[in-house]
Amino acid sequence: MLALGFVKRIEEAESLVKEVKARTDKPFGANVVIMNPLHREILEMLANLGIKTVTTSVGRPDFIYPIIHDLGMKGLHVVLSLAHAVKAEEAGADGLVVVGSEAGGLRTRKSESSTMVLVPLVCDHVSIPVAAAGGIADSRGYRAALELGAQGVQVGTRFLVSRESPAHEEWKRAIINCGDGGTALLPVRGNLMTRVVVTPAIRRFMEDPTINLEEELGKIDRMKAWEKGDLENALPGAGQASALINDIKTVREIIEEMVS
Ligand SMILES: Cc1cc2nc3c(=O)[nH]c(=O)nc-3n(C[C@H](O)[C@H](O)[C@H](O)COP(=O)(O)O)c2cc1C
Repeated sequence: MLALGFVKRIEEAESLVKEVKARTDKPFGANVVIMNPLHREILEMLANLGIKTVTTSVGRPDFIYPIIHDLGMKGLHVVLSLAHAVKAEEAGADGLVVVGSEAGGLRTRKSESSTMVLVPLVCDHVSIPVAAAGGIADSRGYRAALELGAQGVQVGTRFLVSRESPAHEEWKRAIINCGDGGTALLPVRGNLMTRVVVTPAIRRFMEDPTINLEEELGKIDRMKAWEKGDLENALPGAGQASALINDIKTVREIIEEMVS
């Protein structure tokens, strides 16, 4: 899956798709974030370039699935709760990515269920295929997900620490050094939270009662901080699976071990 969620220009999204196409003749899909104002143009561009599958996240699925189907594509909607899973199936989603609370990426302020609970719960209530996500970093997690009723998995944090991943080396090192209990949810805006590895700088923020965390974090230009490898100001996004990751592997090694 090609991450196009937060691209700001359609030309940028198009050139990323073309770059992947130039490197492989294997099929691939893309992630479209519904709250991105470019979502419709991105979907049309993907369809024109022959992409058949998308995942859709952060937004309501009801108006987007008719568009996806009219364009001849299929989509899996990303859900963090049973209620949203049922709504997504009703809205015409062809499948679901069911993401437990231990995952990296965006979460909400609500109390949420872990992968171990959410995946079988959703599987009991929907009849479309489910990809499990959150906390899956090796063959044990992969096999457990299938046992919970999922047809496949979506993996984030483990691939972030791959040799091919363009994430900054300091980001990868922060995940490798992260132990049990070493991540936390930080406020982004509104109802949204994001899971990060707690660096010494983030811990100082979190422990200071005089600081409004959302306001303080909003001031930081995270992209610029990563460009400079400035871990003091960067937010190393990652899931709880960080504690299971001890090395940088190639994508091939990660997948071969996972499905072995
Ligand atoms: C740094 C980071 C960025 C992410 N960005 C997106 C995104 O743009 N769109 C999306 O649907 N999921 C995003 N995710 C979530 C992943 O797609 C995946 O569901 C999640 O990482 C699974 O949990 P894991 O990290 O335990 O493997 C992101 C995750 C991380 C760690």
